[in-house]
Amino acid sequence: MLIKHTKKSQLKESQLTSESVYKERRNIIKGLGLAALTIPFIKPASASVFDIFSSGNDQDKNALFQRSALSFTKNTNYQSLTPLTPEDKVIQYNNFYEFGTGKGDPAQYSQQFKVDPWSLTIDGLVDNPQTLNYEDLLKKFDIEERLYRMRCVEAWSMNIPWLGFTLATLLKQAGVKSDAKYVRFETVFDPDQMRGQASRFVGGSINFPYVEGLTIEEAMNPLALLSVGLYGKTLAPQNGAPIRLVVPWKYGFKSIKSIVKITLTDKAPVNTWQALGPDEYGFFANVNPRADHPRWSQASERFIGEGNVFQQSRQNTQMFNGYEEEVGHLYKGMDLLRNF
Ligand code: MTE
Repeated sequence: MLIKHTKKSQLKESQLTSESVYKERRNIIKGLGLAALTIPFIKPASASVFDIFSSGNDQDKNALFQRSALSFTKNTNYQSLTPLTPEDKVIQYNNFYEFGTGKGDPAQYSQQFKVDPWSLTIDGLVDNPQTLNYEDLLKKFDIEERLYRMRCVEAWSMNIPWLGFTLATLLKQAGVKSDAKYVRFETVFDPDQMRGQASRFVGGSINFPYVEGLTIEEAMNPLALLSVGLYGKTLAPQNGAPIRLVVPWKYGFKSIKSIVKITLTDKAPVNTWQALGPDEYGFFANVNPRADHPRWSQASERFIGEGNVFQQSRQNTQMFNGYEEEVGHLYKGMDLLRNF
């Protein structure tokens, strides 16, 4: 595989996929006798994908997922981030392998995804195991707006106005037992609705359901948010409706989407990307401009603002994505160059 010998600065986005995924796909392609064909491993989003929401075709509009307005308060501590990534980019340039590996696939293939009824179970080492339904997620907690940076491990970033409530609020209500050390999150498994779960090729060879984890201290940090909306409205399926995690000091893959299960445990969960490529992805995955990915630099990022998503200017990446003051103490004494 030539990626290892390519200068980091020459890496294209289509190459920013885990090597094990690449190899696995190579094997599948060989098995199919298609080795001579050039297959793009991460399909660049085409212009037509960015047009799907502005299409004049009424039938298309009827097929679109309807987002509802949410009432919320603005958290004054998190209102001053500029510029925001335009809403159409936030909802059309996504990573959600359950719907495909291309950046436009989640928006294209998730519009019929059913989010109501939904059930989110909180279990494991808690005093009050419980299951919340769709209405609970939107009505049971005070919803606030927070503007957060989001930094993907692929070296692009966005500024997003999320709506949600802190993970700590939910965990306190469930009553965390003293022997709980970790929180494990799981995405819905529904291959009938998620084409990437029905086909290993479409879903990037991931063993679904997608799993993520945090330590209890990380989960209780006031920055960790359970999001139910963005830009004033409920989440679209491609962003992880009806509820997803947002941990802005960590690479985006930690912010697991469409969660159905939160389990308090005494064992460190093995998260999806760590299982797929342990040499490249780990449990902590804190944003760190000095700790390069084995195949590319993490020192800077392509900030997605106005204009073509692939022709954006680069900006320096900040330690803990700019949230060092809030979370740096969680990692005192840890070798931060080895913590991926
Ligand atoms: N959650 C699930 N279940 N499946 C995924 O493929 N992708 C992750 C994360 N959460 C992913 C996921 C990655 S790599 C990123 S960068 C963010 O979602 C992207 O969130 P966004 O599409 O809302 O910007």
